[in-house]
Amino acid sequence: MSGQGFGRVPLPGLPRRVVVHDVGPRDGLQNEAAFVPTAVKAELVRRLYDAGLPSVEVTSFVLPEWVPQLADAEELVAALPGDALERSTVLVPNRRGLDRALACGVRRVAVFASATESFSARNLNRTIGESLAMCAPVVARATAAGATVRAYVSMCFGDPWEGAVAPADVVSVGCRLLDMGCSELSLGDTTGVATPGQVVAVLDALGDAGVAVERIAVHFHDTYGQALANTLVALQHGVTTVDASAGGLGGCPYALGATGNLATEDLAWQLAGLGVETGVDLDRLVETSRWLAGHLGRPSPSRVVAARSAGRNR
Ligand code: HMG
Ligand code: MG
Repeated sequence: MSGQGFGRVPLPGLPRRVVVHDVGPRDGLQNEAAFVPTAVKAELVRRLYDAGLPSVEVTSFVLPEWVPQLADAEELVAALPGDALERSTVLVPNRRGLDRALACGVRRVAVFASATESFSARNLNRTIGESLAMCAPVVARATAAGATVRAYVSMCFGDPWEGAVAPADVVSVGCRLLDMGCSELSLGDTTGVATPGQVVAVLDALGDAGVAVERIAVHFHDTYGQALANTLVALQHGVTTVDASAGGLGGCPYALGATGNLATEDLAWQLAGLGVETGVDLDRLVETSRWLAGHLGRPSPSRVVAARSAGRNR
C-alpha cells in the first residue's frame, strides 16, 4: 500500500477497519452539466476498484429527464465487468427504476427518501409519505430478487428551505426504511451543513430507537468544511461505513447550495494517519481523481489531491 503519509498514531475508540463506499460516479457526476462519456464513467469505476475501494455507487436509474448526466445507466452497467457489478450499487427511486436495474443484472440498489417535506417534493415530486409508499414495493421486490438494498435519508441535519431538522424526523423516516427491509441506512447531510454535535444527536436518537449502529452509514457533503470532523465523531460513536466521493466531486441538482461529498482522498489520508484500515491505495486514487479532473476540465476540490498534485509530500 502506498501513499500513507507521515506516520500512524491511533486514537482510542475508533474501529480497526472502515468500509468506504465511493459515491463519486453517481453523486459526484450527477451534478456535472456537460455529459461525461459512458466510457469515461466505466473507466472511473474500474480505476476506483483498482485503487482498493470495496464498494462503488456507479449510477442511478432515475427519470432521465431529471438527471440527464446519468441517462446512460444501462450502457454504463453493461460496460462493467461482472466482478465489478457484484460490488456496485445503483440508486433507484421507484419500481420503474428497479426494473431497469434488475434487467441489467444489478445486485445492489439504494433507495432514497428525505427527512423534510421541502426536499422530498423537489427531489422526488412526492410528499415524504408518498415517497415511502413508493419505496416499499421497491424494497420488497429487490429483496425477493436477492438484491441488497441500502437506504438514504437526505437532509438529516439541516435543510435550506426548512432550517433545523429534528433528529426525531430522521428517526421516523429511517426506521420506516429499515422496517421495509433495507439492510443499511445512510444519513445524508445533503447540503453539508452538519456539525459534530448534531451528528452525535442523530446517532443517539437512532440508537435510542433500537437501530444497531452497524446498520448506519454516514454521507457527508463538505459544503461548510465539516465533513471530516463529522466523520471522525461518527466513527467514535461506532459507525464503520463512510460514504465519500473520489476527488470530492458532487452535489445534488435539486438541493439548494449542495456541493461535493467528503473527498475519498481526504478521508483515506485521515484514516491512514489514524491506523484505520480501508484498503484504499491513496496514490492510485489521487491519480484517478487527477485523470478525471482532466476530463472535467477543472481541478479536484479535494485538499489531498491538491497537496499531492503540488508534490508537497509522500
Ligand atoms: P415524476 O415526474 O413524478 O414521474 O418523477 P412519474 O412517477 O409521474 O412518472 C412519469 C413518467 O416517467 C412515467 O412514464 C414513468 O413510467 C416514467 P409514462 O407513463 O408517462 O410514459 N418513469 C421512469 N422512467 C425511467 N426510469 C424511472 C422512471 N420513473 C418514472 N426511474 C421521480 C418522479 C421519482 C421519477 C423523479 O422525481 C426522479 O427521478 N427523481 C430523482 C432525482 C434525483 O436523482 N436526485 C439526485 C439523487 S438523490 C441525492 O443526491 C441525495 C443522496 O446523495 C443523499 C444525500 O446527499 O442526502 C442520495
Ligand atoms: Mg449525496
